[in-house]
Amino acid sequence: MQRPRPRHVALVPAAGSGNRMKSGRPKQYLELLGRPLIRHAVDTLCAAPDIDRVYVVLSVGDQEWDRYDWSALEPKLVSLFCGGASRADSVLNGLRAIRDDMADSDWVLVHDAARPCLAPWHLERLLQTLSDDEVGGLLAVPVADTLKRDDGHGHSVETVSRERLWQAQTPQMFRYIMLRRALERAREVTDEASAIEAAGLHPRLVEGDATNLKVTYPLDLHVAEWILENRAR
Ligand code: CTP
Ligand code: MG
Repeated sequence: MQRPRPRHVALVPAAGSGNRMKSGRPKQYLELLGRPLIRHAVDTLCAAPDIDRVYVVLSVGDQEWDRYDWSALEPKLVSLFCGGASRADSVLNGLRAIRDDMADSDWVLVHDAARPCLAPWHLERLLQTLSDDEVGGLLAVPVADTLKRDDGHGHSVETVSRERLWQAQTPQMFRYIMLRRALERAREVTDEASAIEAAGLHPRLVEGDATNLKVTYPLDLHVAEWILENRAR
């Protein structure tokens, strides 16, 4: 008998304030090609046939989400107003909020709202590579530059080997119960994979590409715009 297809849901933390953008409003709502930045990743996730549901985690006091029309993406898209003080808190609050809809073995793909250039082929590669994986994994890119450590005053004291170093991206894809338990134990982490590593497990690194950048500083918004406009459709 065929095994039932495992469910995949996406969870999009979008409760940050975007301080490094220095724009005065949360970066997930900055305009990118005529749409709020978050709309791009949410559209791609909602269009993916293997993803059953897309949850966005917004801050409790979010004033902007409801100003936009999301009806074309419903009922697949679900908003949760339960963000926390850190990204990890927002993800954990989201995982707790959806507990009644989740089986322990369902896959959760956590994707930053601030990565608007997520493409269908990134998702396909992640899902295909991890479909039979015990632990799960994440999109990542091998480090290309020579790395330096400074002395705290702007002088280089050391060259850090880039051998075996990767830059972590999102989505990061883990089983629901494994991820929730790992985050409950390791709260001071900047991504899901670190919580899984702290539990003694080894997430698979699935090679992505640099176009899946995170919009962090003002220049990144221009780069993201260029990528989306020039991408072969
Ligand atoms: N995030 C979140 N809850 C928080 C902090 C961050 O859901 N308390 C989300 C952001 O909205 C973003 C993602 O996590 O989609 C990645 O975080 P980051 O790029 O650091 O975004 P911000 O925290 O908003 O930006 P900054 O660190 O510059 O303030
Ligand atoms: Mg942040």
